[in-house]
Amino acid sequence: MNVLLLGAGGREHALAWRLTESPLCKQLFIAPGNAGTEEFGTNLALNPNDFDALKTVVLEKNISLVVCGPEEPLVRGVQNFFKNDPALSQVRFLGPSKEAAQLEGSKAYAKVFMQEFGIPTAGYRAFTNETLSEGVDYLAISKTPIVLKADGLAAGKGVVILNDRGEAQAELKAMLDGKFGDAGSEVVIEDFLDGIEFSVFVLTDGKDFVTLPVAKDYKRIGVGDTGPNTGGMGSVSHPPFVDADMMAKVEHRVIKPTLEGIQARGLDYKGFIFIGLISVEGEPYVIEYNCRMGDPETQSVMARLNTDLMQLCLFATDSEVYRATVDIEPRQAATVVLVSGGYPGSYEKGKVITGLNDVSGSRVFHAGTKRDADGDIVTNGGRVLAVTSYGDTFQEALALSYENARKIHFKGVNYRSDIGFDL
Ligand code: AMP
Ligand code: GLY
Repeated sequence: MNVLLLGAGGREHALAWRLTESPLCKQLFIAPGNAGTEEFGTNLALNPNDFDALKTVVLEKNISLVVCGPEEPLVRGVQNFFKNDPALSQVRFLGPSKEAAQLEGSKAYAKVFMQEFGIPTAGYRAFTNETLSEGVDYLAISKTPIVLKADGLAAGKGVVILNDRGEAQAELKAMLDGKFGDAGSEVVIEDFLDGIEFSVFVLTDGKDFVTLPVAKDYKRIGVGDTGPNTGGMGSVSHPPFVDADMMAKVEHRVIKPTLEGIQARGLDYKGFIFIGLISVEGEPYVIEYNCRMGDPETQSVMARLNTDLMQLCLFATDSEVYRATVDIEPRQAATVVLVSGGYPGSYEKGKVITGLNDVSGSRVFHAGTKRDADGDIVTNGGRVLAVTSYGDTFQEALALSYENARKIHFKGVNYRSDIGFDL
């Protein structure tokens, strides 16, 4: 069958790789894709938030399955658009409904959900402009560090952690005052959790689930986890501290109650759930839900998925996840992300990328890349490429990714030299 994959990042390049390995996938289209996804299918110059345009190509290209990579179309209701249009009734759609995507789209919604279904997470209070003065009073007596989260989607920038109560009060006012636009019209203030983070990926049809390889990503721009947050600078699968005991806790305390909650609320959830967790003295707490796969976790996770991804997607859309099994590659995988100089602040685009053909033994996933008029591959975003490798240990995998990263050049290229430093 023909498949349409929505998105343009390294995550989508990795998904495109695995989807097209399946004998079930006839033709893959990617909207809008990047210079790398062309390797596996046809890029379509479409905005995934333009639902009418998606409908037109789905009918034109005889698409039977749509897989949504990023969160924004889901939070805006792309799944509902597909479900509610009789002309699209035969099209399978992988991704949760608008309401279910609130698990990512609204931090306050996710907190209420976790509380209701007994899922371990940091204690919190939520405030709006109407309750600003209560929020200011609450912060005056809060323990530091203080975690402030804009309720809505803020492109990974909506979380601020401060050590000073006065600064936190000012930040609360700024957020409620529109610092992150509408995303900050409600602010969640959370207890700080001190521990080590990891990412668990689940594929569900809303009832049953399978667990994909576990990963850890590195969000900060700087060595030693310093500086501002980015979309993600690297990933490792499998992080060794996530042992069988920890996974049993995650399954019983987090994944199963999450699925029970989804059913109790009648949420239409067929797709990936990315659970951001933190291990505090060996106990898992949920930091956040995402209604999609992670980037750059997907690059390492897909490397270790030895099961037909397309078949898994179809089990999810067809409510047959009870039939699914997941075969995980025993070798370890690690990903190093190459970014534009200046990212996550402002950066220039259009720098010619060289050395891609010198890479050997690793896979290079494209993110912010495009082909220019001369046919050269040029930078087109903050995160540009992700280099993913295998190894018997994650250290070996990382060493190979670094060896190959050094062969790739573009003006201003930057990457973290210490992915996996804390494992
Ligand atoms: P989020 O967007 O909710 O994933 O938060 C972004 C990052 O902020 C997380 O990856 C954590 O590193 C950090 N963070 C979020 N919530 C907490 C918390 N309650 N305690 C400590 N760190 C947190
Ligand atoms: N790497 C974190 C994310 O995809 O949100």
